Amino acid sequence: MPSLLRLLRPALLFAAAVLTAGLRAAEPALKDIIDSALATSARQYEWMLAHLPADPAKPLPRTFEHGTLVTIPSADWTSGFFPGSLWYLYEATGEAKWRASAEKFTAYLEPEQHNTGTHDVGFMLYCSYGNGLRLTGNAAYKSVLLNGAKSLSTRFNPTVGAIKSWDHGVGKFTYPVIIDNMMNLELMFWAAREGKVGHYRDLSIKHADTTIANHFRADHSTFHVIDYDPQTGQVIKKVTHQGTSDDSAWARGQAWGLYGYTVMYRETKEPRYLAQAQQIAAFVMNHPRLPADKVPYWDFDDVRIPLAPRDSSAAAIIASALLELRGYVAASTAAGYTSFAEAQLRSLTSPAYLAEPGTNGGFLLKHATGNHPKNSEIDVPINYGDYYFLEALLRARNAG
Ligand code: GLY
Repeated sequence: MPSLLRLLRPALLFAAAVLTAGLRAAEPALKDIIDSALATSARQYEWMLAHLPADPAKPLPRTFEHGTLVTIPSADWTSGFFPGSLWYLYEATGEAKWRASAEKFTAYLEPEQHNTGTHDVGFMLYCSYGNGLRLTGNAAYKSVLLNGAKSLSTRFNPTVGAIKSWDHGVGKFTYPVIIDNMMNLELMFWAAREGKVGHYRDLSIKHADTTIANHFRADHSTFHVIDYDPQTGQVIKKVTHQGTSDDSAWARGQAWGLYGYTVMYRETKEPRYLAQAQQIAAFVMNHPRLPADKVPYWDFDDVRIPLAPRDSSAAAIIASALLELRGYVAASTAAGYTSFAEAQLRSLTSPAYLAEPGTNGGFLLKHATGNHPKNSEIDVPINYGDYYFLEALLRARNAG
């Protein structure tokens, strides 16, 4: 180092420290941001509830697209998220009115406990009835969840070693398993414990191991769909359904994987699941095409980046997952996960993503992407974005 620089080094370091501290002081505290975002979310969902059409066939809001509120029946894969968000608002506020709304919208999903036609029964029931049980202890919710887990267990094929995701796509797929399916295992672990159905735990572990073996690439990104031969268990093909290409990294798929293996580690304490979650986290956090605000483009490999649409739902899922994962790792790694999730929450709670009450069809987050290849739900709000956003806010708030 030239001698002048060496002389000035302490003064430069001091100036840098003062500048950094000044910048930090200028930022509002995360706690204040969270409190304000939860209050805004409550106002927005009050507006949603006041404007939701009473349609018993399609009672649940899913998205707001082309200026129209899209509502869905209980059989839609996203049906559990709106009731789940209402439960989170009850948890956030303790106000009885949120419990009453959450109970009302949760009840619409009761028929899904017998739904054996999709893996999504885990999403549907654990976000709605699962949160309801956690927050109220309502014994009737327990039996719905146990029935739901039984329905889901019928979709496990021991030759493949995985739960089948979809029955649709006949002709295109034989036995499709999608990375999203990792999210349905949380219900199975709960049921294994509560219902004393130990083999639900075993089949979930098998599913997670089969997914590690076949879904992941050398860079730890995940394929979306693996199609299996149910007679032999062999992989037929590795493709995408919602990404830009078979070899691309669809953002929400990475998020589902990260969240799913974090839950696997919570439930089993097996180091291989922690390693898997950390590898996915590293792929996402260090990706050269991750925008500065840490809200991913809908697919990390869209050739239109930086003009490609974002997926705020993926950001919310990643933030929530990292806020759990940080509890399982060494302090220095945890600090990195915390600061990444905090940066995401600062972005998502800013006016760029968090809607003003009375706008955005009554949903919380703007700029999510549902199914880009089908030209469906691009740059719109989606109920699962809101659900994981509220979950992440609560995880950050409850951790202090
Ligand atoms: N599970 C479907 C999706 O993430 O769009």
